[in-house]
Amino acid sequence: MGLVIQDSLLEIFLLAVALVILTALHFHNAYKYWTKKGVPTIKPKFPLGNTNTFLPQGFSIGPITKTFYDELKREGHKFGGVYLVTVPNLVVVDPDYVRDILSKDFQYFADRGFYHNKKGDPLIANLFVIDSADWRGLRVKLTPTFTSGKMKTMFHSVVECANYMKEAIVKSIGQDVDMKEIVGRYTTDVIGTCAFGIECNSFKHPDAEFRAMGRALFTFNIFRALKAFLAISFPKLALQMGLKVSNEKVGNFFRKVVKDSVKLRQEENIQRNDFLQLLINLQESANFTLDQMTAQVISFFIAGFETSATTMNFGLYELARNPDIQKKLREEICQVLDKHDNKLTYESLNEMKYLGQVLDETLRMYPSLPTLNRRCTKDYTLRDTNIVIEKGTRVLIPALGLQMDPEFYPNPEKFDPDRFTEENKKMRHPFVHLPFGDGPRNCIGLRFGQMQSKIGIATIVKNFQLSVSASAKPLEFNFSSFLLQPKKTIYLKIQKV
Ligand code: HEM
Repeated sequence: MGLVIQDSLLEIFLLAVALVILTALHFHNAYKYWTKKGVPTIKPKFPLGNTNTFLPQGFSIGPITKTFYDELKREGHKFGGVYLVTVPNLVVVDPDYVRDILSKDFQYFADRGFYHNKKGDPLIANLFVIDSADWRGLRVKLTPTFTSGKMKTMFHSVVECANYMKEAIVKSIGQDVDMKEIVGRYTTDVIGTCAFGIECNSFKHPDAEFRAMGRALFTFNIFRALKAFLAISFPKLALQMGLKVSNEKVGNFFRKVVKDSVKLRQEENIQRNDFLQLLINLQESANFTLDQMTAQVISFFIAGFETSATTMNFGLYELARNPDIQKKLREEICQVLDKHDNKLTYESLNEMKYLGQVLDETLRMYPSLPTLNRRCTKDYTLRDTNIVIEKGTRVLIPALGLQMDPEFYPNPEKFDPDRFTEENKKMRHPFVHLPFGDGPRNCIGLRFGQMQSKIGIATIVKNFQLSVSASAKPLEFNFSSFLLQPKKTIYLKIQKV
């Protein structure tokens, strides 16, 4: 009897040893991928490859890619290879290669390469994640939603939401305010109105369902972190397991909103000027299913409110730290409004050139998406080399790295909107400012994002004086979040102008 137990223990022990050896061999071989190709690498460490130095802070690839960029650039490389666990990723450093990949040779890099389980988890199959075969047709169909003509028709509704925000801020005069919460309510109201024709009233009802859904989407817990880790590091296994990454509560909420709105509009023959209407019109011509529509609506909601809210939060923080720039911006806003009957219109907003520069500089230092992703869709030879990037290889474009590089932006930590005058812009490589990406797969909502951010900032700066709260700590980034976020809440002091 004792002998049998001993034999079994021995077998288990040998099996475990074999497993460890096989795993180590697998990692050892995987970590040779780039060297075999002659691509410079940053030495990976077992078992997480190039991500492990950042644990336990988190392993969001956004801010981490900047450190890859800095290290490769320091060594004089134009590109390099890293491993996310064992998955090889090409990191592009030289802006000419960035241009090749995003724009010139886009046909080789039309996928973003994000994990999605199209069949088992249809609500995740949105324009942002789907692969080129499905993406092309959908992008063409959705593009008319975001023309400048459409922006003009939505302009008034956005200004109305900004006015609700102004009324709410008046109540906080003299206090330390979490600006992110305020601008988050504003952008939730904007997207509610412009996407669904629904008044969310986040200022009157801060716990309104739309706002709650926004919070649920960006609340991070260990369970979601593990899912994301599995999807990024072992995408094939995740797909075989049928891993779902969409948030069920949020999915059910939006499925119902879309279903009810479609029913109401069809029954009562209502036509509106919003994103949902365009999707309804598409449904009739393109056989869109309810889930396909809901997936797009959720992505507009996510992209529409959180990116602009974080941008405004960072922008207002820099204006609070730089009173001279804040004053100059306020003077421009007042001068232009004076000429336009004191009305914020599509035309008057476009006349505020310095406001545009403030936004560009904010997005330089704080791009919501600090890393752009592409996946190679057919074998591709990197220009002026013999290096073949194989089909399926993931590519990381370090937007934050490029935008904080002193070669392109001297003294990069300094907030200086004058970097974005027309003359100064012309003197730089066009692919070193990528807050909305570039090429055919750039941000489809660029105009809308700029419009709502500018209206929000102009309304606040015209009416309120901002300063940094005395208890403010130096800003650090949150390494666990997909979008660039501050680690701690930013509090600003508000005074009436
Ligand atoms: C300040 C606001 C915004 C910023 C900074 C931003 C940034 C970005 C970036 C960097 C990308 C990836 C581009 C690339 O890979 O080349 C992107 C894609 C996208 N954005 Fe935005 N965005 C903003 C607002 C919006 C808004 C308001 C919407 C929609 C209502 C939107 C919808 C999308 C969609 C659908 C994609 C995927 C496009 C595709 O793959 O064809 N974004 N955005």
